[in-house]
Amino acid sequence: MIIAIDGPAGVGKGTLAKKLATHYSMSYLDTGTLYRAVGLSVLMAGQNPADTTAAASAAQGLDFNFKPVDGSFRAFIADQDVTTKLRTQDVGQAASVVSAIPAVRAALKDFQVHFAATHSTARGVILDGRDIGTVICPHAEVKFFLDARPEIRAQRRVKELREAGREAVYETVLAEIIDRDDRDRNRSDAPLKAADDAILLDTSDLGIDDVFAKACAVVEKQRARANKSAS
Ligand code: CDP
Repeated sequence: MIIAIDGPAGVGKGTLAKKLATHYSMSYLDTGTLYRAVGLSVLMAGQNPADTTAAASAAQGLDFNFKPVDGSFRAFIADQDVTTKLRTQDVGQAASVVSAIPAVRAALKDFQVHFAATHSTARGVILDGRDIGTVICPHAEVKFFLDARPEIRAQRRVKELREAGREAVYETVLAEIIDRDDRDRNRSDAPLKAADDAILLDTSDLGIDDVFAKACAVVEKQRARANKSAS
């Protein structure tokens, strides 16, 4: 089974995906990490994320992987541990800029499609991002599109950043979220949008457990349907 989770910044895609992955013992790919890694590679090389050639070659040559270190997974670019750098606001903005470049999306597509295909046959796989239900896995058995009011998303992101020990000013974070959403929704290649067959969940007034319970109900229904047609 493939579960696609799409939605704008700070909506809780990662939180839901991780809970579902643990609950159902499924594999999980946070596709935003790939775009963040490309954005960070460009910034680390002192280049401009809007530079199409620089961003495309960073995506094509992305030497990026996760390695288990001391019991947790760490992200590496060319042997440098970049785990803590990936989730910063600057890298999020750079990711949003590079992700609007078609050559960058093309370079990262195969990896995502392959990851979904190889993990879907075992216990199942969850991918979260912006175009999973529309472009990467249009055949996913379950598709969620999460949304929430920008103010709520900014509050959640501020909390996440502060918990990670970073400074975060609510107004700045809100402005960046609105800016990033606007770019993600209006780009020509694979814009952020709900697939026609996605289940829409507005998480503005829902706690994590409520969202998780609603999502589980949908997954259970799909599993029951799949079991029935297999028997
Ligand atoms: O965690 P958050 O929602 O803030 O962002 P993310 O999922 O880490 O993604 C960072 C940026 O990468 C987004 O703003 C998008 O511009 C881009 N992205 C994309 O274009 N397509 C994806 N499948 C995932 C992320």
